[in-house]
Amino acid sequence: METPQTIPVHLGPRSYTVSVGAALLETLGRTVAQVPHVRQAVIVADSAVARLYGERARASLAAAGIDARLLEFPPGESSKTAATWLSLQDGLLAGARPIDRRTVVVGLGGGVTTDLAGFAAATCLRGLAWVACPTTLLAAVDASVGGKTGVDHPAGKNLIGAFHQPSAVVIDVDTFASLPAGQLANGLAECVKHAVIREAGLLDFIDAGAGAIAACDRGLLTELVARNVAIKAAVVAADEIEAGERAHLNFGHTIGHAVETYLGYETIGHGEAVSLGMVAANHVAARRGILPAAIAARVEAVLAKLTLPVRRAGLAANVIWEIMQHDKKAREGKVRMVLARGFGKVEIVDDVKEKEVRDAVKYLGR
Ligand SMILES: NC(=O)c1ccc[n+]([C@@H]2O[C@H](COP(=O)([O-])OP(=O)(O)OC[C@H]3O[C@@H](n4cnc5c(N)ncnc54)[C@H](O)[C@@H]3O)[C@@H](O)[C@H]2O)c1
Ligand SMILES: [Zn+2]
Repeated sequence: METPQTIPVHLGPRSYTVSVGAALLETLGRTVAQVPHVRQAVIVADSAVARLYGERARASLAAAGIDARLLEFPPGESSKTAATWLSLQDGLLAGARPIDRRTVVVGLGGGVTTDLAGFAAATCLRGLAWVACPTTLLAAVDASVGGKTGVDHPAGKNLIGAFHQPSAVVIDVDTFASLPAGQLANGLAECVKHAVIREAGLLDFIDAGAGAIAACDRGLLTELVARNVAIKAAVVAADEIEAGERAHLNFGHTIGHAVETYLGYETIGHGEAVSLGMVAANHVAARRGILPAAIAARVEAVLAKLTLPVRRAGLAANVIWEIMQHDKKAREGKVRMVLARGFGKVEIVDDVKEKEVRDAVKYLGR
């Protein structure tokens, strides 16, 4: 069996380790047992993930001497609400065994779960420790690392939340084998994003390994996740609360989020929207003459190889522009975008013109 990899996230007193590898669910208990003062655990999972992996997680905790119960909620983005957050507080506070600050919350599942579990932990008794156990590629390479937790509000996604770093992250790549179709590609969009903003070699690796990754090769998935976590960890360590360079992670997300809002979250996957957003952002950069057209074409070819969309007809450019101006990251009506000059070379601009966005949306509809 391949050796697990460990990636440190350097955040001073909030530092932690991300472990990635095959069969790591069996080691979850040992990891949770290392959280200082832990006495019991509560596993938070959506019902689909609970059915698949809940019992194995609980057994691993029990084997490490940690009594754990399971709190479930219905799967899907529509559950990432204040109502579900409140039901988790009810579950935490009203269990047969009283919780105290030595209770550790374990978020077992995709990004919806790690966001909800982390936020429930951040707020219950003014802050419980939590451990993330992501079971989607998206949660593994993005949502579970960096400490952003929260829920959606009718006014927009992720508008209620807190920074609350986990005490550890345990990623068992074997769990990706049961992912629904398209869910792996969803996470791969964020991997391509990391490659563009930080490391050309990662794009070559994804390109060459696309077939084996799609077939859930354990060794390749372990390396893929470890390399992406290392990039995200470095960005977060340099800028924990997004005062500066962490914003680079928004590459592909300005137009991407607008497309997601325009089409509706149940219609298009986050990764698909980010894929379109990266193609559009690269179009803006290429038109400005700051990104070589060959790099834009290469990124697009890899996205297409990963079965991610690089074209989308029927997007109303004026509505996309309107949505972008109301993005929580827009400042004083100015639209901010992350543009690439090349691999590992990105800049944040706030002088994006409506015409540039119109041209990019037109390009998506080609
Ligand atoms: N906190 C952050 O920094 C951050 C970063 C990126 C994304 N996110 C958030 O992540 C969320 C999206 O995450 P997601 O795509 O993982 O969604 P998700 O958690 O809804 O999971 C997608 C679906 O896959 C199922 N599933 C999960 N793991 C499975 C497995 N191993 N086998 C079978 N089915 C499985 C789930 O039940 C769900 O239906 C969004 O809410 C987004 O805002 C947060
Ligand atoms: Zn994203």
